[in-house]
Amino acid sequence: MTAIEVSEIVAALAVAEPRAKAHAAIALASRAQALSAAGQPVVVGVNTSVPTNPGRPDKPELVNPSSLARRGLGSQAGRVALLHSLAHIEFNAIDLALDAVARFRGQPAGYDSDWLRVAGDEGQHFLLVADRLEVLGSFYGALPAHDGLWTMARRTEHDVLVRMALVPRILEARGLDVAPPMIERLENAGDSESAAILQRIYTDEITHVAVGNRWFRSVCEQRNLDGADVFRDLLRGGHSVWLRGPYNDAARLQAGFDPAELALIREMEAEYRSAQAANHGVDTSG
Ligand SMILES: [Fe+2]
Ligand SMILES: [Fe+2]
Repeated sequence: MTAIEVSEIVAALAVAEPRAKAHAAIALASRAQALSAAGQPVVVGVNTSVPTNPGRPDKPELVNPSSLARRGLGSQAGRVALLHSLAHIEFNAIDLALDAVARFRGQPAGYDSDWLRVAGDEGQHFLLVADRLEVLGSFYGALPAHDGLWTMARRTEHDVLVRMALVPRILEARGLDVAPPMIERLENAGDSESAAILQRIYTDEITHVAVGNRWFRSVCEQRNLDGADVFRDLLRGGHSVWLRGPYNDAARLQAGFDPAELALIREMEAEYRSAQAANHGVDTSG
């Protein structure tokens, strides 16, 4: 069995056709699993230049998040809109996981296989949602989407610590908060097929956030940093914009957050909201 070359991961990142990218990620994940089970090196190679922007299809059109329509889940159009935005998240998540491996070389044993497993899961999530969209008479690319996830990838590309702190622990963790009520709303709307897909994704996402927590802590330890201080500094640096309760504490604890971090997240959200309210006050009085 030959190890995966970094260039193969870069090649998967470059794939623009969504289903082809998903299959490439799934194939890399299963090789990674076999290699790590055999006790062999999983990914070899360094210093490959990782593209700033991965391959993207012509559609969906990328627009400002505020211009995206929000619909209730009672109608098929509303459910299609939800599944379309989810397909877009999963598609970006494939690239985020592949990028974490290709960009941040030289991490401790287990890092590459953890993130390739995540990449494979995201590929499967994408295919599940894309298939469901087609059953409902739509397809990935039929609606516009936004580029928030890749923007966060760009903002965190300089440092594995910042990437681990903000992408899995903020963005993916947000998925844990919003999924259970969405699953319930889909069930109530009689769409148990879509609900089952979201349930499967939710279960996997707990393990992805756990991977993020594991490597965030590992990098803090390597650099002799206090994780709570690092996290607080990053949130103060403007990233609190992503914090929005209510939080799913049970799932977050299961994913390896500790109670002090959950308290810190609430504290930082409150700090951000009161600063925002104060700014807003100045704006409107002027
Ligand atoms: Fe996912
Ligand atoms: Fe994920």
